[in-house]
Amino acid sequence: MKKLCLLGLSIGLASHSVWADTKPAPIENKDAFVSNLMKQMTLDEKIGQLRLISIGPEMPRELIRKEIAAGNIGGTFNSITRPENRPMQDAAMRSRLKIPMFFAYDVIHGHRTIFPIPLALASSWDMDAIGRSGRIAAKEAAADSLDITFAPMVDISRDPRWGRTSEGFGEDTYLVSRIAKVMVKAYQGETPSAADSIMASVKHFALYGAVEGGRDYNTVDMSPVKMYQDYLPPYRAAIDAGAGGVMVALNSINGIPATANLWLMQDLLRKEWGFKGLAVSDHGAIFELIKHGVARDGREAAKLAIKAGIDMSMNDTLYGKELPGLLKSGEIQQSDIDNAVREVLGAKYDMGLFKDPYLRIGKAEDDPADTYADSRLHRAEARDVARRSMVLLKNQNETLPLKKTAKIVLVGPLAKAPIDMMGSWAAAGKPEQSVTLLDGMTHALGDQAKLTYVRGANITEDKKVLDYLNFLNFDAPEVVNDPRSAQVMIDEAVKAAQQSDVIVAAVGESRGMSHESSSRTDLNIPANQRDLIKALKATGKPLVLVLMNGRPLTILEEKEQADAILETWFTGTEGGNAIADVLFGDYNPSGKLPISIPRSVGQIPTYYNHLSIGRPFTPGKPGNYTSQYFDDTTGPLFPFGYGLSYTSFSLSDMALSSTTLNKTGKIDASVTVKNTGKRDGETVVQLYIQDVVGSMIRPLKELKNFQKVMLKAGEQKVIHFTIEEDDLKFYNAQLKYAAEPGKFNVQIGLDSEDVTQQSFELL
Ligand code: NOJ
Repeated sequence: MKKLCLLGLSIGLASHSVWADTKPAPIENKDAFVSNLMKQMTLDEKIGQLRLISIGPEMPRELIRKEIAAGNIGGTFNSITRPENRPMQDAAMRSRLKIPMFFAYDVIHGHRTIFPIPLALASSWDMDAIGRSGRIAAKEAAADSLDITFAPMVDISRDPRWGRTSEGFGEDTYLVSRIAKVMVKAYQGETPSAADSIMASVKHFALYGAVEGGRDYNTVDMSPVKMYQDYLPPYRAAIDAGAGGVMVALNSINGIPATANLWLMQDLLRKEWGFKGLAVSDHGAIFELIKHGVARDGREAAKLAIKAGIDMSMNDTLYGKELPGLLKSGEIQQSDIDNAVREVLGAKYDMGLFKDPYLRIGKAEDDPADTYADSRLHRAEARDVARRSMVLLKNQNETLPLKKTAKIVLVGPLAKAPIDMMGSWAAAGKPEQSVTLLDGMTHALGDQAKLTYVRGANITEDKKVLDYLNFLNFDAPEVVNDPRSAQVMIDEAVKAAQQSDVIVAAVGESRGMSHESSSRTDLNIPANQRDLIKALKATGKPLVLVLMNGRPLTILEEKEQADAILETWFTGTEGGNAIADVLFGDYNPSGKLPISIPRSVGQIPTYYNHLSIGRPFTPGKPGNYTSQYFDDTTGPLFPFGYGLSYTSFSLSDMALSSTTLNKTGKIDASVTVKNTGKRDGETVVQLYIQDVVGSMIRPLKELKNFQKVMLKAGEQKVIHFTIEEDDLKFYNAQLKYAAEPGKFNVQIGLDSEDVTQQSFELL
């Protein structure tokens, strides 16, 4: 076995079988190790480490291996099995310095087992469940030889026109920050160097969710206070939780693309936040600096990016082409390159790859016989998390839960849509393995089934939209229409509905409608599906809408038409079973909206924690010259934090332990929550605080804490929250993070609107 002596430590350099026989001594000191390795590297080898390539049909594998062996590639993404990645690591072991490759992938909401989309995970408000989903994703990904994921995506999203709303955790800074932390810990486990952990790279740094008009890749213009207060904390939370990587956003921020943004990447990320880790550009972002119009050509683009501190360039060749010349001409310094290389090697060190390049690739003889085997999935866990992620929006006359003895007609294009169940960014999930709603209901009913399924409508009859959705998919058309006319399908559904006791309609978006680059101007359910709903309503039979969608939809009309509405988002591999659990009452829904649902697109944004204004709209007193749209009701259709249950809950006896708080003190805010209904169930008790008067305008309220509580029918509990000065701090006009003395309102509720309030004074 060949060995390379770095720092006097033996580093194994052979393929895995030999490697396993002669395990190298542990390498204790990362900085010294990396510095020593760098001393041995040529400029080309250093630049090679900065190159992250996407594995696709465009580059033959043999060529890739050659490039790796020549030291020209630092890592790959989109290659996701052990047999695929092993030869690449072997090639790295043939390179002069045998620096291991890393293998990355977008493991966003599951790997082989697909969990609900992030927006749905956030709807659970259940940190244990969210953490479990991330841990399983990490284990599955690591078992498939992956070392790092481009997740969590923690972009605050307040404009549901943005298709990537589906990929984030909603509109609220506090909730998203809590989840950011949980996800980083879940991916990385005890340490990112563990064989069953993967490194997290939080994205998209920064502010990507605030693209103007919700149009993907658009510009972002934002005041510093708003950034610090509302948009930056989730990235910070992920970094403070130890995220090893950061993916830099494609958008510009106040006129400077993130990829070239010295303030963002240096002053904020590295200096102010002390981030020591890997900064990766997003796909082709360095080249896009030319399109943004801040770089004249590739050379200038590479210079701006390396100077800003983009360590690794994702799928563009500009670093390789331009850095040597830039260095020679003195436009960049050796330290610019070295800083980047140090982070790449440091990340590989943290992933445990220098100790064992085959840590997650393992031995060939241990490779799964079938990578896609069902036995590799975590179905029970996925089902449990999925049922916690749904939000019951309406349930009049106890339409839900359904009786298993009822004659049920299931209609809608999403009732039998295995691809859509998975949602976008479904990693390595296989549609054949996902349980559709039809499957799920059929299983739940077993022999008693009196279930009829008719399609009723296509996703859309709009050819332009259809073409777009299918263009987005590279392999095969994802949205395939039933060739029958819309009317024929509706007639068939109505006929079946007339012979049933209750209608369940699975309607909404196809997964591609809520994806990267899938911004919409119209958030209605597509017109042909709305025609179906109207026709079903006209039958007079109880109508249950099961919504599947990746972002809030404007469902004003449907709210009136339906007797019950269950927002399921996209629920993942076990979605159909999980939805059936909820529909039949085997699980009592407990989700709460992590984003408000607007009445119309014209109302956007409708986030709950907006700033106070001088002429607020007062419900019940319309009048002129107050802040409103006069042609519609003011306020969202469903507020942030909203969600029903099959039981009912009441809050009473809210109390504060004191009416004053000093800087080192604590106040206990308590409330009694009671299950006043007949079923056991969970609800989320939410604590909001309003800073009544400040040196700057403060939001109407801000979520500061919450607890998800399980209560048996008739049971009650007293819930306690601790309030400290830290909970009252905000970034003032000078960006100083401090609390200001004065009055604070504390509001406790089961959603953001319906709250009870008490006040105290910060001394
Ligand atoms: C582009 C997306 O913006 C980013 O989120 C993703 O991680 C990369 N492509 C890699 O797939």
